Amino acid sequence: MLKKILGTILCAALAITALTGCAGSGKKKVGISMPTKDLQRWNQDGDYMKQKFEAAGYEVDLQYAGNKADQQLSQLENMINSGCKVLVIAAVEASSLGNALDKAAAKKIPVIAYDRLIMDNANVSYYATFDNYKVGQIQGNFVKEKLDLDNAAGPFNIEFTAGDPGDNNATFFFNGAFDVLKPYIESKKLNVLSGQTDFASVATVKWASDTAQSRAENIIGSYYGEKNIDAWLCSNDSTAQGVVTALDARYNSEGRSGQWPIITGQDCDIVSVKNMIAGKQTMSVFKDTRTLAERTVTMVNDLLNGKTPETNNTYNNNKLDVPSYLCDPVFADISNYEDILIKSGYYTADQLK
Ligand code: GAL
Repeated sequence: MLKKILGTILCAALAITALTGCAGSGKKKVGISMPTKDLQRWNQDGDYMKQKFEAAGYEVDLQYAGNKADQQLSQLENMINSGCKVLVIAAVEASSLGNALDKAAAKKIPVIAYDRLIMDNANVSYYATFDNYKVGQIQGNFVKEKLDLDNAAGPFNIEFTAGDPGDNNATFFFNGAFDVLKPYIESKKLNVLSGQTDFASVATVKWASDTAQSRAENIIGSYYGEKNIDAWLCSNDSTAQGVVTALDARYNSEGRSGQWPIITGQDCDIVSVKNMIAGKQTMSVFKDTRTLAERTVTMVNDLLNGKTPETNNTYNNNKLDVPSYLCDPVFADISNYEDILIKSGYYTADQLK
């Protein structure tokens, strides 16, 4: 009997929650699902969004999925059942969220794909991101200019390390960079001694630093011997950090520190900015998570208040053209990091010491 009464009370509470968005407070609840706490950026993205949404009068359910697609799926199902009015998702895997998105669609809960496009499902209302192809172009152009590929005699040696095959962004980054460098590979001004130039061969599952490191160690050991590596195109900072660790062993212990290669990255993670200051990573791409978080809050606010959110592009996810807003990525290196990262208040000078 007691069980029945408690059950009835629980059901009534759930029903109220579903109707009001958040029991008691009358605030609408936003579900934010981030992929992992392992990378600094997602912690920042989550924190900024939580702050901004709360300041705009929303309740926030912020969850991290431990880089596991099934965990993200069940977290999203909980968000749907607990009355979230909108879901903001940076997917662990682009195509694995179908069940949750179908449930959200049945309850007319809009979904915002955050930073990473969610593929193969029609219930993706909007996409807020950076121009991911441009991120790759910035990296590729940097290598092109640094090696002066149009004028220098060369040839130079380069290797590639890309991102997670399950992350839809990873191919955009890789293609953006590769499209710039491909003509020089074809003309043999750039050589890839490992022969690994297709995305599948250079991808890094879950963007893991240790995976990038062991692949780099294998390549260095198998193909380089006494030969120099002039550049290592890494799609982001976590993979660049793995490559730097692999190179550290070879270059510093073997006294080749003068021949340190050009290494690209993305995100301006603190570890990588410190590596840039130490001369171990040559550049990164700054994607101001504050900008993306603010853009997303504005999108959600508009959406829940009957306004059409502003967009500047569309991306096809195999089911529909998702209206998208692309923010601008910014080149970062030792020459401008103080302006864009410290003066802008993104980091304190102490954090980078
Ligand atoms: C991408 C994201 C990058 C980087 C990477 C690893 O989707 O756009 O900024 O963080 O994931 O998490």
